[in-house]
Amino acid sequence: MKVTVVGAGAVGASCAEYIAIKDFAAEVVLLDIKEGYAEGKAMDLMQTASLNGFDTKITGSTNDYSKTANSDICVITSGIPRKPGMTREELIGINAGIVKTVASNLLEHSPNAILIVVSNPMDTMTYLVHKSTNVAKHKIIGMGGALDSARFKYRLAEALEAPISDVDGMVIGGHSDTGMVPLTSHATRNSINVSEYLSAERIQQVAEDTKIGGATLTKLLGTSAWYAPGAAVSALVQAIACDQKKMFPCSTFLEGEYGLNDICIGVPVILGKNGIEKIVDVPLSEAEKNKMQESAAGVAKTNGLLEL
Ligand code: 2OP
Repeated sequence: MKVTVVGAGAVGASCAEYIAIKDFAAEVVLLDIKEGYAEGKAMDLMQTASLNGFDTKITGSTNDYSKTANSDICVITSGIPRKPGMTREELIGINAGIVKTVASNLLEHSPNAILIVVSNPMDTMTYLVHKSTNVAKHKIIGMGGALDSARFKYRLAEALEAPISDVDGMVIGGHSDTGMVPLTSHATRNSINVSEYLSAERIQQVAEDTKIGGATLTKLLGTSAWYAPGAAVSALVQAIACDQKKMFPCSTFLEGEYGLNDICIGVPVILGKNGIEKIVDVPLSEAEKNKMQESAAGVAKTNGLLEL
């Protein structure tokens, strides 16, 4: 199993690190345009191998896509992160051109690769990859919902004063500060709906805190988060690489599912060796259905800014 991660910044390097530590991939290639940067991060990561106990081989490349040849999975994290006060959507002007070029370069050397898009605005970048390549829709996966769901579980555990391992929850919809749809009607603690333990007001606060989870960290850090995004990507890569048939909310191209067409947005999917093996239709409350439609309208508006 060969995985390429384009963008050796904080998210890309964290993703490479977590993939290596999980030790399911033979090789991870880390690529960046900055001279020597990916090579340095790869070497530094390889010097943790004896300490972290992995045999995955991590190599770095300065913009030489021949080193990525025959990758099974390619992760696109390249582009600029947002600064405090920015929305993810404001990054489109710079990141769209980068993502389109990176996808083309990757597919030139790995025409059969499964692509995972992380760069923001992620749903629109995923849509761009669909429209600018001939890759089958089940092999183009946007990572946002897995991260948002992890933040949802973090906030639920905080409200419940429970260990995170007790909690389950999923966030679908657009990966944006206003468009996320935390499925509060399905959130549980040990299979019991959280509404048995939390007031409606507290659950709503959990949902709101989840939606601004990225912006909250950007304000604290001065830049976008990287540990949880990197971990979320590594979980998707592992599900594909190990054919786990796990369910994650991922941004994928819809053709009627959830009443939506010609859009990439976060919905529950089963991930396995073929990428998106199935889109799962989960029951939504009327409020969640309405929020999903509103979220899609926001993503479609951002898509309209693309020059396809
Ligand atoms: C986040 O929410 C970077 O969009 C990513 O942290």
